[in-house]
Amino acid sequence: MILQGADIVLGVTGGIACYKAVDLASKLVQAGACVDVIMTEAACKFVTPLPFQTITKRPVSVDMFQLLRETDMAHISLAARAEVLVIAPATANTIAKLAHGLADNLLTSTALATTAPLIIAPAMDADMWAHPMTQANVEALRRRGAVIVGPAEGRLASGRMGAGRLASTEEILGAIRQTLGRQGPLAGVRLVVTAGGTQEPLDPVRHLTNRSSGRMGYAVAEVARDYGAQVTLISAPAALPPVYGVEMVQVRTAADMHQAVMTHLPQTDVLIMAAAVADYRPASVAEHKIKKGEGGLVLTLERTVDILAAVAEARSTLGKPQIVVGFAAETENLLANARQKLEKKRLDLIVANDVSSSDSGFAVPDNRVTFLSSEGEPEPLPLMPKEEVAEQLLQRVAALWRKKHG
Ligand code: CTP
Repeated sequence: MILQGADIVLGVTGGIACYKAVDLASKLVQAGACVDVIMTEAACKFVTPLPFQTITKRPVSVDMFQLLRETDMAHISLAARAEVLVIAPATANTIAKLAHGLADNLLTSTALATTAPLIIAPAMDADMWAHPMTQANVEALRRRGAVIVGPAEGRLASGRMGAGRLASTEEILGAIRQTLGRQGPLAGVRLVVTAGGTQEPLDPVRHLTNRSSGRMGYAVAEVARDYGAQVTLISAPAALPPVYGVEMVQVRTAADMHQAVMTHLPQTDVLIMAAAVADYRPASVAEHKIKKGEGGLVLTLERTVDILAAVAEARSTLGKPQIVVGFAAETENLLANARQKLEKKRLDLIVANDVSSSDSGFAVPDNRVTFLSSEGEPEPLPLMPKEEVAEQLLQRVAALWRKKHG
């Protein structure tokens, strides 16, 4: 949502990673952004303006002395329009020019003329990146507020291994979203999200878990970051990439998650418990792999801690978190069960989701949820992608925050 209608100026400089900037432009356009591409002459040696123009449906600017419309100087009008200037890939040469305020082409002139935040995604060979001059230039830009994304480590165009690969499109998108949202409705709010299904070990090679993919919690973390919050994601094992700009805490069991949540609690303004926490764990964990026998096997399980109940307890003395949100995964009596959890766990809001149908809930991209709060009527939402559910949830959290803090 945050990219919808956002004016992004994408600077592309001459490196082999130029072709990846086409994907970035495409993803930005798909997310609803208006993208103006500025290429350097060197970039045009690697990729022509055509794919960018086709994808963005806007003219690509290269020439410093071209007029955008009849009298618009490109560097001035693009500088004024930009909400964010992102340079991906950024070569060592362009980084050096930016650090020293040179304005010898359309991109560096625009960078000097704009007051928009600057995001730089460097890409170059490892020795150029490691060179003290490049490092000093990057540091100078960082000190002046530029966001530096990457570079990643891995195989470089030269065939060597090292740091210098362009950051992934997802990371650069994350940096753009976070930058656009800096002054958002949750700016300065410390928000903790839990995600995924906990794993309770049985022996060294087996565990009990559930079907949660972690997608819902990760989407909540991402949107909370877009709203300006300082986000910590406490995640049970999930096959998902880390969320850019979010502090990750990896846990495995319900007990680990309980400990991580309680450690963060004194610095938490908003807690959103999207994790599917095991209610029971094996009463004992075998030291060695359990061998099969002739008959059946009976497992004895014991209760885990109810994290939200522990939070409710601590909250009354700590005064934190100010807002606590829970999820209720139900297969029957959705509203009655959710209402009971809302009251018992002393939540401000609960997201009730019916996990009995195959198109919604666990391990699928969509969710059909109903919001229940201590005040007001239940709010049922239609089936929608988890990213949109997260957006709807954060809107309500932001409204609750405003209500509490004027
Ligand atoms: N939860 C928790 N600690 C647990 C179990 C659940 O904090 N040990 C949280 C979940 O993260 C969720 C909410 O409590 O936000 C409701 O989880 P759910 O599994 O639906 O409910 P339970 O309280 O476990 O009740 P039941 O399984 O009996 O429906």
